[in-house]
Amino acid sequence: MTPADLMLRRYAAQGLATEAGRIALGYFGRQESLGVTMKGAQDWLTVADGAVEDFLRARLTELFPGDTVIGEEGGGEASDAVWILDPIDGTANFAHGDRNWCISIGFLFNREPTIGIVAAPALDELYVGQRGQGATLNGRKIAVSGIDDLRQASIELGWSSRIPPQRYVDMIGRGYDAGCSVRRVGSGTLGLCNVATGRTEGYAELHINAWDVAAGIVIVGEAGGWVSDFFAGDGISKGNPILCCTPALASQLSEITGIS
Ligand code: IPD
Repeated sequence: MTPADLMLRRYAAQGLATEAGRIALGYFGRQESLGVTMKGAQDWLTVADGAVEDFLRARLTELFPGDTVIGEEGGGEASDAVWILDPIDGTANFAHGDRNWCISIGFLFNREPTIGIVAAPALDELYVGQRGQGATLNGRKIAVSGIDDLRQASIELGWSSRIPPQRYVDMIGRGYDAGCSVRRVGSGTLGLCNVATGRTEGYAELHINAWDVAAGIVIVGEAGGWVSDFFAGDGISKGNPILCCTPALASQLSEITGIS
């Protein structure tokens, strides 16, 4: 794939993320139109998830017929050129009328996270990252925080019902013991983006799926962050733990979270 092919994909995905954001905003805050169903405990699905994924899948397939697409709702196959989509990350927030949700479009070339686009339309934010080209928020270059003392650090620890609660609770305890401020906002994708802008120093989750992090990994890596090797092994199909943070805190946060 040439640099021009990659640039085309990046600009196309940027435009599609913005359009998808408009579709999602059409549902946001209109409880009666959300058609909420539950896939499991705290695992929310709304009609907006399906509508956004259908839109993105159709447009990406039309524009790049040789690429494959994997989406949270519709699944799909990996290939050397694969798009990984989360139509709405932070669906529980979305369904509650909380603005911390986003659309995540990641592109992996030869298994390398290469393009990451995240649109958070209710926050009026668009994150763009491309391997070797830096990362931006609303067109401005972003970089991870310079804080190197855990007693000044704010970290987000993601949770899902896929992991026994005690492991999560123990990790939080170790974070507080080390002097961190610990939070959870509820969108893994925005958790990574927040590290990229320096709003937090780290994001960790004991298990997360590829669609939640494929775009964010590019963005935080390009903003100078350290990221664990999420795509090792079966990461693309089964998920893995993730830790991303400002490099100065990588070894300490790795010890606290058990993720390296
Ligand atoms: C979830 C969110 C949450 C994270 C979970 C994800 P969804 O994704 O990113 O913050 O902790 O692991 O499953 O269901 O809102 O797309």
